[in-house]
Amino acid sequence: MSKVLVTGGAGFIGSNFVRMLVAEGKHEVVNLDCLTYAGNLENLAECEDAPNYAFRKVDITEVEAVERAFEDTKPDCVVHFAAESHVDRSVLDATEFVVTNVVGTQVLLDAARRHGAGRFVHVSTDEVYGSLGETGRFSETSPIQPNSPYSASKAASDFFARAAFHTHGLDTLITRCSNNYGPYQFPEKLIPLMILNALADEPLPVYGDGKNVRDWIHVEDHCRAVRMVMDNGVPGEVYNIGGNSERENIHVVKKILELVGKGEDLIRYVDDRPGHDRRYAIDGSKIERELGFVPSRDFEKGLAETVAWYAANLTWCEHVRSGRYRQYYDKQYGSRLGSE
Ligand code: NAD
Ligand code: DAU
Repeated sequence: MSKVLVTGGAGFIGSNFVRMLVAEGKHEVVNLDCLTYAGNLENLAECEDAPNYAFRKVDITEVEAVERAFEDTKPDCVVHFAAESHVDRSVLDATEFVVTNVVGTQVLLDAARRHGAGRFVHVSTDEVYGSLGETGRFSETSPIQPNSPYSASKAASDFFARAAFHTHGLDTLITRCSNNYGPYQFPEKLIPLMILNALADEPLPVYGDGKNVRDWIHVEDHCRAVRMVMDNGVPGEVYNIGGNSERENIHVVKKILELVGKGEDLIRYVDDRPGHDRRYAIDGSKIERELGFVPSRDFEKGLAETVAWYAANLTWCEHVRSGRYRQYYDKQYGSRLGSE
């Protein structure tokens, strides 16, 4: 059985990916995660007793701990999800984004090279391409024009992955995916935040005019695409991954209210996000042509299932919404929403 070392496996996408690989039973999966506010082992409760799963609490920026993990594990492949992932947090303070996303990625690339890990799949984002106008889509050759501290840190990490391939011959691949949604997403991101606020009759804070567009992909489709890249991607290549589901934010918010059975009076238009990218859209023709990936989940159906998942998992939501998340929430929205 080959060994896959997954970083950030306790987060939203990482935990969906780990669950998928562990259930398949074809790989030994080692999950390397330091459990930041976004990392939650409850996401992996069903993997805990699986013989092909192990967890190691490791900060990817700590060279010695990463070295030890590679030494003990001797992975055949690394799939790197670990990151600071929330744009709004990067606006408040970018330091952790540089440390984890840039330095942490380089620490992993070095360890992978030293320990002869076969491949290194670097999970990145469409945000490195910047913002689109009314038309057009991002292809793998679009210019890299990140606009937020988060996307700047991801773009920098992409360049280090690229350099590891060109300079050192490490078998690196880069994926750039659009906005994910689905179960286990931390409720600081648009869809789970709006679902939980709607369920609790709290105001729904929509940035700016609500007409920014995101291309939504179900997390299970994203994980399937990363799996295809891990298995059959060409060394040194970049693969865009999209959902073919462009929607304005306000459309998504109104749909959630409809699904939860609440009125639009809960919507509050609030100050815009600084540097807010207007529109993302993905040209996914390369990964379709070369690896046969097409997203399979219908957005409206997937959204309804996601609303149902959150409504059925309020204990999980309570746990992640307590403590440090609550402090962040107050700092981010306290003055925008006033005393409501
Ligand atoms: P997330 O914030 O839910 O999870 C991140 C995970 O990384 C957490 O488990 C956290 O504990 C871990 N982590 C953070 N810093 C760490 C460190 N220093 N050492 C070890 N572990 C650390 O993120 P997500 O939404 O699941 O995103 C995963 C990856 O996919 C990120 O690289 C992100 O840039 C990328 N991505 C996300 C989306 C999206 O829509 N969420 C879309 C495209 C790409
Ligand atoms: O495109 C991929 C990226 O998608 C990933 O790389 C990021 O990790 C992920 O967080 C996501 O970034 P976004 O900034 O697009 O996602 P977010 O859920 O924060 O916001 C989605 C849209 O909703 C965006 O236009 C901002 C808006 N928004 C968000 C929040 C949290 C609101 O209007 N109100 C809000 O409260």
